[in-house]
Amino acid sequence: MRYGYFDDDRREYVITRPDTPLPWINYLGCEAYFGIISNTAGGYSFYRDARLRRISRYRYNNAPFDFGGRYIYLRDQDTGEFWSPTWQPTRRTLEEYTCSHGLGYTIIGSRYSCIAAEVRYFIPLGENLEIWQLSLKNEHGHPTRLAVFSSIEFCLWDAWDDATNFQRNFSTGQVEVQDGVIYHKTEYRERRNHFAYFACSEKLAGFDTQRDVFLGPYRGWDSPAAVERGRCFDSIAYGWAPIGCHQVDVTLQPKESREIIFLLGYHENPSDEKFDPPDSQAINRKTVLPVIRKYLAAPNANAAFEELKDYWSTLLSTFQVRTPSADADRMVNIWNAYQCMVTFNMSRSASFYESGIGRGMGFRDSSQDLLGFVHMIPERARERIIDLAATQLPTGGAFHQYQPLTKRGNNDVGSGFNDDPLWLILGTAAYLKESGDWSILEEKLPYENEPGTETPLYEHLQRSLRYTLERLGPHGLPLIGRADWNDCLNLNCFSDTPGQSFQTTTNKDGKTAESVFIAGLFVMAARELAVIAQKGRLGEEAGQYLAAAAKMEATLLQHGWDGNWFLRAYDDYGQKIGSASCEEGRIFIEPQGFCIMAGIGLENGDALKALAAVKEHLATPHGIILQQPAYSRYYLHLGEISSYPPGYKENAGIFCHTNPWIMIAEAMAGHGDDAFDYYLRINPSAREPISEIHRCEPYVYAQMIAGRDAATHGEAKNSWLTGTAAWNYAAITQWILGIRPEYDGLRIDPVIPAAWGGFRVTRRFRGNTYVIEVKNPASLNRGVKKLLVDGGEIPGNLLPAAEPGGAVIHVEAALE
Ligand code: BGC
Ligand code: NOJ
Repeated sequence: MRYGYFDDDRREYVITRPDTPLPWINYLGCEAYFGIISNTAGGYSFYRDARLRRISRYRYNNAPFDFGGRYIYLRDQDTGEFWSPTWQPTRRTLEEYTCSHGLGYTIIGSRYSCIAAEVRYFIPLGENLEIWQLSLKNEHGHPTRLAVFSSIEFCLWDAWDDATNFQRNFSTGQVEVQDGVIYHKTEYRERRNHFAYFACSEKLAGFDTQRDVFLGPYRGWDSPAAVERGRCFDSIAYGWAPIGCHQVDVTLQPKESREIIFLLGYHENPSDEKFDPPDSQAINRKTVLPVIRKYLAAPNANAAFEELKDYWSTLLSTFQVRTPSADADRMVNIWNAYQCMVTFNMSRSASFYESGIGRGMGFRDSSQDLLGFVHMIPERARERIIDLAATQLPTGGAFHQYQPLTKRGNNDVGSGFNDDPLWLILGTAAYLKESGDWSILEEKLPYENEPGTETPLYEHLQRSLRYTLERLGPHGLPLIGRADWNDCLNLNCFSDTPGQSFQTTTNKDGKTAESVFIAGLFVMAARELAVIAQKGRLGEEAGQYLAAAAKMEATLLQHGWDGNWFLRAYDDYGQKIGSASCEEGRIFIEPQGFCIMAGIGLENGDALKALAAVKEHLATPHGIILQQPAYSRYYLHLGEISSYPPGYKENAGIFCHTNPWIMIAEAMAGHGDDAFDYYLRINPSAREPISEIHRCEPYVYAQMIAGRDAATHGEAKNSWLTGTAAWNYAAITQWILGIRPEYDGLRIDPVIPAAWGGFRVTRRFRGNTYVIEVKNPASLNRGVKKLLVDGGEIPGNLLPAAEPGGAVIHVEAALE
């Protein structure tokens, strides 16, 4: 069953009923000011950092789900009836309802008692504010007197403190109301130089800023006292919970329409110009008023909206495809690319499942996110690599995450995840292949942000490799540390105390447990760095890296191969994990994907065996399971993986991030039908018809789909912020469609379903646009042997990078 439909021409998903199985959300903002917004206007905003600069409140894990938002109330002043045009928070049954989530904007439209209302929410490019554009139309045959109430609940900046430290923060809240603009200025009197504001385009009939006055004692947001009586109280907040609410009274003649604009924004003043007059405590508004005036004017708001649409069109036009599969086209052309941009911006910080408090920018995560967006904005990928590398530790190790506002590694989450540093090599390689900008390797960057420690980025990458080589275990395989890609395989943790973090607790010396996954990742990263060294003419090291990779590959084949598939790890007792000899957890997906992607086993036939084992033991119609059999009880020596009930998350869930590794491995093996079949199993658009089972948004990937052992097999969770986005994008565009950036050009090497007659791609690459027509007259899976470039034939399947010149280059390729 569906809860809406894709409107591909408008690049929107249109939700047609408000009671979706879960909140179906969207993101606002692309640069510094961001928001999440659900299909019923729930969500919140923040400036740069969802933890440290939270602008509005939201209640995670609330009943009903998804509470706190950008809510509007309409009240018929003659009948006293009131409702919310976005359904929440009054949840009055609407006569019509649609929510269109588009790229960087959301429009919620509805009709109730002959009043049509539509709110468009978006953030103009380059600004730290959001626009709520409300239009109203009276479809009654008689004039209607309406009161319109806006509402937002301010967060006192630090979202963690705001949700916990009430003895202080019930006394700190402060606002100022000047000329109809509500300023939220908690802590502005002391060390902050930023404030939030909430403005309205119309003359106010009233306002409120104190939550309990607006709502009334013991009342909720579904029936605020002010709305019920049809008149605000003009309250000023002193401590407690400051809110913003404007009341606008409008009388609409039959068929008359009216537009009202609300702005919610964030503003900083220079610290010596905070107040006006200077010796007062009043906010200096001179710097912010021009921005407020600008966007309260509808023509400017409309122009900003058009600019936002153009911005997205330009970004997405970097890669557009037309294949026989509507599900592939829609994800590649619109939603998967969009999700990649969102994961780039948010890493794992703010979603409906990530509270914005716990996890900032992941080192491993951000390095992988690069794979999905580097072609759209290489210059921002460059910045991200630089930020990441500057948090790297002198040992070559990495903080597991850093805070976006401070760009500093976060000690709470710590380090010692032994795969982390290697991902920086893969991220940098992706950037080099896309951009050809070798200068990045020369950038001088510090370790742990410590001035004076700078070395070229290239040396950071060298230290990443060395970090692994200096940490090898008894079999010569890499020691796992706290964990590898699988954060929950905690082999040195041995935690028996409730509440201890699996991610920061270590009770073992870490000298025994080894990871086959890291071994595969190392082989891939070392070979990549060897090519970088050769091409960048950066020294003699290439040979050493290749030798280290070869040695690791040999070790892996000797100690990491179980006979029919790759082993997963050795535990602290030196026992195998992911072996046919294990009672539970006999086969894991990660090493099968990663070792084959690193090229291991492709020549001796092991790769084919491993892929066959994946198909036999792990594949389900809802995607490929992480491991089997699921762990049926808690194992002290395995950690968090066995803490999850069977079928969920890392304990035999379908952890979607890993599925594209198998798709890529299948493609490398030439199996276009299998690769695409796996692709479709977790493709959100292909799962749209089973939305009642899948439950998450049908337009973006989720981190996890419950596995075969779960009671709710097929149910997705943790949508949006997941490495699934980047890896699926890479799998379909680079390996199945086979349009793959390499150091010297663009490889055209499709591995597609035999039934496809062909496809067409437009790809911008290093300053030119390639229009690529692939034909498959003989119903093959793979095999481009030559290319026609602007009519002339070239041997092989690599398009050499041309001088950037804005040219449109026509390419024809045939599978033969
Ligand atoms: C989750 C992992 C996640 C980790 C990060 C665990 O509880 O299961 O998926 O990577 O937390 O902190
Ligand atoms: C989510 C984390 O963000 C990611 O880094 C990790 O690899 C997966 N969970 C698997 O545990």
